[in-house]
Amino acid sequence: MSKTATLEFDGKKYEFPVTVGTENEIGIDIKKLRGEAGLITLDPGYKNTGSCESAITFLDGEKGILRYRGYAIEDLAEKADFLEVAYLLIFGELPTKEQLNKFTNDIKEQSHVDEEMKKILDGFPKSAHPMGVLASLTSALIAFNPSSVDVSSEEDMYKAIVKILGKFPVLAAWTLRKKNSLPLNYGDEDLGYVENLHKMMFEKPNKTYKVDKAVIDALDKLLILHADHEQNCSTSTVRMVGSSHAGLFASLSAGISALWGPLHGGANQAVIEMLERIKEDGGDTHKFMQKAKDKEDPFRLMGFGHRVYKNFDPRAKIIKKSADEVLGQLGIEDPVLDIAKGLEKEALEDDYFVKRKLYPNVDFYSGIIYRALGIPVEMFTVMFALGRLPGWIAQWREMRLKKEPIGRPRQIYVGENHREFKALGSR
Ligand code: SDX
Repeated sequence: MSKTATLEFDGKKYEFPVTVGTENEIGIDIKKLRGEAGLITLDPGYKNTGSCESAITFLDGEKGILRYRGYAIEDLAEKADFLEVAYLLIFGELPTKEQLNKFTNDIKEQSHVDEEMKKILDGFPKSAHPMGVLASLTSALIAFNPSSVDVSSEEDMYKAIVKILGKFPVLAAWTLRKKNSLPLNYGDEDLGYVENLHKMMFEKPNKTYKVDKAVIDALDKLLILHADHEQNCSTSTVRMVGSSHAGLFASLSAGISALWGPLHGGANQAVIEMLERIKEDGGDTHKFMQKAKDKEDPFRLMGFGHRVYKNFDPRAKIIKKSADEVLGQLGIEDPVLDIAKGLEKEALEDDYFVKRKLYPNVDFYSGIIYRALGIPVEMFTVMFALGRLPGWIAQWREMRLKKEPIGRPRQIYVGENHREFKALGSR
């Protein structure tokens, strides 16, 4: 394989080195392009542009492969638990028993939130979307944890990491409890991370909380499946904000806002709203398929399509199977699950979708499980953020430890050329 790429422009030839990754992906290193050729590249949405070299997550969109630090997502979803996967993503190896115990205990030590934070939460109307509240509370944490801002040593990063892993579930639970007019609570350190999260979200002051193992196992698996996904929109945002040496919490707050968008993590809420709309409209999936294909119609099949996967999203396969299992275990009949399966079947046989390689993505079935677990639809993307937290942390830490430069893309200017100022009277 050639070790360089040649660019010919305006009668001149330029050679650029290529980088070959451990899965044989090839990137043309254009660091010297502008200096040597006076040229830049243009790639709206960065569809063909790599922002970094990363050792955290590998995707093969054509084969539908997803691995965290080399481990297949199918294995991790079946055999690991969420904190093990969080440790793997952040530190690069599956933890030993001792490492996992220390990590778990360090997180538990940090799973309280300054009482003053409740005043900030009080300022929000109950109608506030939980993602906006969570982004704000995550940023507000900075004020109460100033030592987590300027972290450059691995030791300081570790302290900031266990802080946010301990406090984030509390903020997420409080966000839900505020909407449900329930008193703000704290976790139970005798419980596991996911069970504790579920209890904080749903315990009632006048009832004994009863854990349902099927629910906790399903939630644990969903969080693992959402834990990282290389350079997606929100992760790229976390890296970009972190590249200015803004602190970890500020970078995560920006990532939460990016995830909120319906084209990204907000799609899991949009999918359920779409399925409900189809159900209310009589369940005619074919009619909505036609709308999705009609360029004049803004309707899109939410939960379908992906920038990288041009085959099945492996997470969607696992979640679809899990949806059947969880609803079966909980004895829930949800008509929108059948509508979702009907849409998927029709899309997989429809030339428009087949030609564009549009398959169900991670968001297509996840909301059906969240709903079966009693999670309100406006909290679906908060659940995505809870899962993605270790991935964001891992990517931010990798970027900072590698001392990557501040992100600052170029542009091609297409505005007015120079013109003289005109006094107001003469305009
Ligand atoms: C996530 O990047 C990640 O890894 C993200 C994520 C993660 O884990 O972080 O996987 C999580 O965000 C999953 C995606 C959730 N979003 C949705 O489900 C929203 C619906 N999907 C689309 O909006 C779209 O598919 C995107 C945003 C996901 C991807 O868009 P691209 O890669 O920019 O592709 P595109 O919009 O250019 O579409 C290519 C063609 C277009 O048709 P033509 O112009 O070629 O005729 O496919 C069509 C699009 O109109 N198309 C769809 C469609 N998605 C793409 N048509 C109907 N319904 C859809 N859902």
